[in-house]
Amino acid sequence: MHAAASNDKAQGTGEQVVILYGTDTGVTEGLAKKFSGLCTERGMRVTKCVDLDEMSEVEDIKEAAKTNLMVIMCATCGHGDFPANASLFWSSIASLDVAPGAFKGMRYCVFGMGDRSYADSFCEAAKLIDNRLLELGGTKVLEMGIGDDRDEDKWETGFNEWLPKFWEAVKAAEPTDDGSPKPPLFDVKIWDGAAIEPVQICPPGSTLLEIGENKRMTPSDYVRDIRHFSLITKGNDLPFDLGDAVAVYYENIPQDVEEALKWFGLNGDAVTTVSCISDRVSQRHKEAFKQRVTVRQLVTEMLDLFGRPTKSACKDLARFATSSAEKKALLQLPTKAGEKDWKELVDASASFFDLCKKFPSAKPPLDQLLSIVPLIKPRLYSMASSPFYDQERLDLTIVINQWKSPGTGKIATGVSTKFIQQVPVGRKVAVQVVCGTFKFPRDEVTPMVMIGLGTGIAPIRSFLQDKLYMKKKGVKTGPMIVFYGCRTEKEELLYKDEWAMFKREGVLTELIGAFQFDTPGKQVFVGDKMAERKSLLTDNLLGKEGYFYMCGPAVATPSVQKALKAAVASEGKKGEAGAEKWFETFMHDGRYSEESY
Ligand SMILES: Cc1cc2nc3c(=O)[nH]c(=O)nc-3n(C[C@H](O)[C@H](O)[C@H](O)COP(=O)(O)OP(=O)(O)OC[C@H]3O[C@@H](n4cnc5c(N)ncnc54)[C@H](O)[C@@H]3O)c2cc1C
Ligand SMILES: Cc1cc2nc3c(=O)[nH]c(=O)nc-3n(C[C@H](O)[C@H](O)[C@H](O)COP(=O)(O)O)c2cc1C
Repeated sequence: MHAAASNDKAQGTGEQVVILYGTDTGVTEGLAKKFSGLCTERGMRVTKCVDLDEMSEVEDIKEAAKTNLMVIMCATCGHGDFPANASLFWSSIASLDVAPGAFKGMRYCVFGMGDRSYADSFCEAAKLIDNRLLELGGTKVLEMGIGDDRDEDKWETGFNEWLPKFWEAVKAAEPTDDGSPKPPLFDVKIWDGAAIEPVQICPPGSTLLEIGENKRMTPSDYVRDIRHFSLITKGNDLPFDLGDAVAVYYENIPQDVEEALKWFGLNGDAVTTVSCISDRVSQRHKEAFKQRVTVRQLVTEMLDLFGRPTKSACKDLARFATSSAEKKALLQLPTKAGEKDWKELVDASASFFDLCKKFPSAKPPLDQLLSIVPLIKPRLYSMASSPFYDQERLDLTIVINQWKSPGTGKIATGVSTKFIQQVPVGRKVAVQVVCGTFKFPRDEVTPMVMIGLGTGIAPIRSFLQDKLYMKKKGVKTGPMIVFYGCRTEKEELLYKDEWAMFKREGVLTELIGAFQFDTPGKQVFVGDKMAERKSLLTDNLLGKEGYFYMCGPAVATPSVQKALKAAVASEGKKGEAGAEKWFETFMHDGRYSEESY
């Protein structure tokens, strides 16, 4: 049955490889484990696949590099920061104490994970590692690969381009593959007749928080559903800083889960124990399977069954198709010949589960579903509250992400926000604090000029709360200027009463609304309002050396930056070239922060 794996060794080079990963929200860890499996299939010997900090001593790195090819896969977090489990590694190799040429003889390559909307820190951590290893005498067997969140297939696009080059560099021949299923990574035991009170799975590093409020803020008959989503932190040890974000582990909604259980012929109430029989499984799997769980929990809390499928999912699924026509069609989908069919699926907003339903003969059993379906990836939300102002709650502002599928005209909803839209108050949700990207002035009097677009107003609300907290403690506070961009004032200007309160309390200097559709015959954007208020910008940013914050959709960044530079060029009398130069220094000094998505 598992011929794909058993033939592999004979094909390979026997090369030994150490895979080190730096991960913040777990995606790079998953990739590293997957890559480890692919290396093994090609006859390479993966001697280690661990996080970067597990090999943070320079001597250990040197020792491993004597006999191993070193492959480093690293995400960038914060704003150009190293993930927490890579910081020791970086401080070791970046140290001036490491002698030049220390890594002579080391063969290595790097794969960076990032998001190109972080233009000035795109894959910064991976790039730094790549350059430093070279500087210390290492030999790059391959140029750095990049997995970009913004690509069509997210990181898989870049990985699928890089991988053949890697095989070529290490001369690893393609394994023979008869297309049959690979061995599962898990052993699932079903306890017939047993019943348990399911205990919600809490992924490593996350905390289960009770939902205190889930309130729609836009009118119920309005097209966009924007929510105030509040989590109770009281009684939990969940330290967070101003400007942090939270990763929310969404769950699949009950209607979808029940349909999937039926489709795969699974009994949702069945109690299981799952053993990890491969070392290629993630820490998140290992932790989750320390407890007994029901099959329904696995489908609800772990499997990313209802998100957009990747092209590689087609190949995985094809292994289970009993109809040869379906197998052929599934294998064709990720290729050039399948482009049209693939586009049709994407245009219909098809999910992994939709793909399964389209090819009904391909029904992987539970152990294989666990092996081939990716884990639910948490979604990030900016903190909309200050940890000091309200020490018992943590607020988020979430817009339910809906779009019209171009192929079918049907309205589709994103997986995480579909959950947010339905989840009742009182339920618990797993969340993890993620370091924010914002930089703050050292004192409270330095002006803050903030641009909040749509739900980008969330962090700005938290900044104002924080300022109010400081003011109430008797600290002198400086100007806080908000440019608030949204579609319409009546429906979309969120937290109306609070802006009035912040003004009354003397912490909000001015709130300037840019309501896109409120002026007949003209669309108004934040950039237009910035152009009308040039002196407000220059007085606070040039004269008083204030800080600037851009929060919200990444698409708006260029126009906001353009308006800022235009104000500095004309009102600030620096001219175009001078404004460009000023902006560079402004960013370099950490006075420009951006949280865009
Ligand atoms: C640092 C940071 C802070 C953020 N802060 C906030 C915040 O404060 N508030 C907020 O509302 N959001 C915020 N976000 C965005 C948030 O993390 C999510 O991206 C957003 O809620 C959408 O998630 P989703 O799972 O509902 O949509 P997803 O399912 O991830 O869908 C995202 C997009 O992918 C496409 N897509 C999805 N599925 C398919 C399919 N099957 N076929 C074809 N196309 C598909 C669609 O274009 C869709 O719009 C933030 C993001 C970041 C990175
Ligand atoms: C809060 C936050 C900050 C980020 N900062 C950057 C960045 O500065 N540069 C970049 O290229 N990518 C950045 N990213 C994108 C991540 O590197 C990317 O999503 C990666 O796949 C995450 O991998 P991980 O789950 O292994 O941490 C950021 C992501 C988040 C959530």
